[in-house]
Amino acid sequence: MKIWIINGPNLNLLGTREPDIYGHETLDTINRRIQTYLIDKKHMYEFYQSNSEGALIDKIQEAREENVDGIVFNPAAYTHYSYALHDAVKAVSIPTVEVHLSAIHSREAFRKESVIAPACIGQVSGFGSNGYLLGVQALEHHLLEEKQK
Ligand code: DQA
Repeated sequence: MKIWIINGPNLNLLGTREPDIYGHETLDTINRRIQTYLIDKKHMYEFYQSNSEGALIDKIQEAREENVDGIVFNPAAYTHYSYALHDAVKAVSIPTVEVHLSAIHSREAFRKESVIAPACIGQVSGFGSNGYLLGVQALEHHLLEEKQK
């Protein structure tokens, strides 16, 4: 399977950014852990992070051209207001799992709503960096089920 892991704004600062909420691991460290799993499972993969909405949209569109099977996506703050990213996920029809390190439903009111989630097959929130792995595993299950149909 070809799985892309896409991260949105400020997630490049993981490790130093509000560690009480987001933990002490850098994005590189997290990605290396997921990479070990992806290699073990013989998946093809790519990691991408951008602070810009347009670049994230371009990357999601590129995923369709590259025949990506599934996307694990942490849209960060764009989660809460980017209809453009919602539309991008819908437009490419690639099964996408939304991931958040923090428990967005138990934080500030503005974080409770995700405008991206309705375009996704599901959401993982509140399990720290393990959420990315859970997102990958959710995709594996989903894609296998789809194949067996
Ligand atoms: C986040 C939650 C968002 O509300 C926030 O804007 C982020 C990170 C998370 O992973 O918990 O940047 O997506």
